[in-house]
Amino acid sequence: MNSADFTSDAFIAEMDSYLKSHLSPMRYEHSVSTAETCRTLAAMFGYDQKRAFFTGLAHDIAREYSKEELVEWAAKDGNPVREIDLESPVLLHGRAGAMVLKNEFGILDQEVLDALSSHTTGNAGMKTLAKILFVADYIEPKRKHITPEFISGLEGLDLNGKVYAVLMGTLNHLASKGKSVAPEALELKQELEHAE
Ligand SMILES: [Fe+2]
Ligand SMILES: [Fe+2]
Repeated sequence: MNSADFTSDAFIAEMDSYLKSHLSPMRYEHSVSTAETCRTLAAMFGYDQKRAFFTGLAHDIAREYSKEELVEWAAKDGNPVREIDLESPVLLHGRAGAMVLKNEFGILDQEVLDALSSHTTGNAGMKTLAKILFVADYIEPKRKHITPEFISGLEGLDLNGKVYAVLMGTLNHLASKGKSVAPEALELKQELEHAE
């Protein structure tokens, strides 16, 4: 695969068939639906639609890796794998996926890699593409947990507003289950609460 232009129709088609043969049908469908939602959000916020589509399509490329594979792949980004990461290794699938895209598919676009890395928890300093993915992953229409009220509540919000609503949805869910929250998610919350 020539990854120089990962937004070309040919590269996107190759990624699509890779994912179709490597992911469970449910995860593959979620990936396609996330890609389509990324494209819609990109159109809404004046971002490159093909970059957004590709990023959405590939975002869960490592989601079905074993714990060992997740730790091994995530560590390739040079950041530590912390105790808190080992408590919920599934959250490493963002970082691991970024490294799979980089090392196996030759994707060097930092914005795309960062979007994958941050999609599981969010973090401070997310760029537009990362925000689009973060929202799309949560609201894509195949998600069962989203109510029509939540979707209509997002209407009219700017991108930061949508990110905040999604983040709060996740934090409330974690609180209701008594689960701990990744520090990155709290850093994103702080950042958004202090933004304009
Ligand atoms: Fe994911
Ligand atoms: Fe996802």
